[in-house]
Amino acid sequence: MTRSILVTGGAGFIGSHLVDRLLAEGRWRITVVDDLNDFYSPEIKHANIAQHLKRPEYKFVEADIRDADAMANVFSDEKFDVIAHLAARAGVRPSLSEPKLYAETNINGTLNLLELCREHGIKQFVFGSSSSVYGINEKVPFAEDDRIHQPISPYAATKAAGELICHTYSHLYDIRCICLRFFTVYGARQRPDLAIHKFARLITEGKPIQVFGDGSSRRDYTYIDDIIDGVRAAIDYDGSIYEVFNLGESETTELGELISLLERSLEMNAIIDRQPMQPGDVPATYADISKARRLLGYDPQTKIADGIPKFVDWFRTTV
Ligand SMILES: NC(=O)c1ccc[n+]([C@@H]2O[C@H](COP(=O)([O-])OP(=O)(O)OC[C@H]3O[C@@H](n4cnc5c(N)ncnc54)[C@H](O)[C@@H]3O)[C@@H](O)[C@H]2O)c1
Repeated sequence: MTRSILVTGGAGFIGSHLVDRLLAEGRWRITVVDDLNDFYSPEIKHANIAQHLKRPEYKFVEADIRDADAMANVFSDEKFDVIAHLAARAGVRPSLSEPKLYAETNINGTLNLLELCREHGIKQFVFGSSSSVYGINEKVPFAEDDRIHQPISPYAATKAAGELICHTYSHLYDIRCICLRFFTVYGARQRPDLAIHKFARLITEGKPIQVFGDGSSRRDYTYIDDIIDGVRAAIDYDGSIYEVFNLGESETTELGELISLLERSLEMNAIIDRQPMQPGDVPATYADISKARRLLGYDPQTKIADGIPKFVDWFRTTV
């Protein structure tokens, strides 16, 4: 049976990969809403959707999730079975200079969509949250029931708020909301502002890369295919009405080690420009993924040592 899904942010990095997966399954009608904003080059987003636009079961709507009227039209045109809400202002550091834009997009935009789910009786809502909600959690690995009341960037606060409003709508209106806390995602089409992509670009251009702190900060880097497995499982999840899941690789890599992996794959040396730690940055992220394993069958496959060469293959042929 064909099902209908709305993917917000479907021209972006993670959203466009989700669309690839759904198109490959051949049993979805897919609507994408994306405003193609210039947080990074809209040309990249156009390229991300170029193949999708050729498919009859795919519809693209250029619209802003903050625009309640435009969103109402999208929901009137199609009865969705499920929403995969991935549109957001992403990125920790830029949120410090534009906190209102982040709040309007990530909180009000999310609220607009939940209101429309209520109005139209849509019962499944998957929300792209972030590991940044854990803030400076000292307990590792991070587990879903750790406290998230101490975010240290506007971005993190808006994602925590998104999870809270999801809870409210699940409780009041019986909309199953599944919040997925993504841990630094990388792979083909990765956002150009994110470390792996940015470093690869600068190393190949022979320019210095800024390394904040002493290189010992650690991240749980998650390969895009593994993230999409988790999102896909959440779309079908039929357990309790509100759930939060970590989606990470559950392994941490020091920044210095990440740079070495990139150097090896690119066969070039990085020029390091050491800088102090940035406000809003967390020293470490590390996902406990036992809950996602148990309830979503999530089973990440790609270790960073294998994922970086795959990323570099894509980077070399595309960028
Ligand atoms: N990439 C990561 O490592 C990561 C980590 C944690 C959480 N996330 C979350 O996952 C989601 C997808 O992230 P991504 O890395 O693919 O980012 P992305 O910027 O590539 O994709 C987001 C898409 O949303 C669109 N968008 C932004 N504001 C919009 C608006 N007001 N109306 C309509 N469309 C809008 C953008 O144009 C973009 O195409 C985001 O919610 C992000 O916060 C990503």
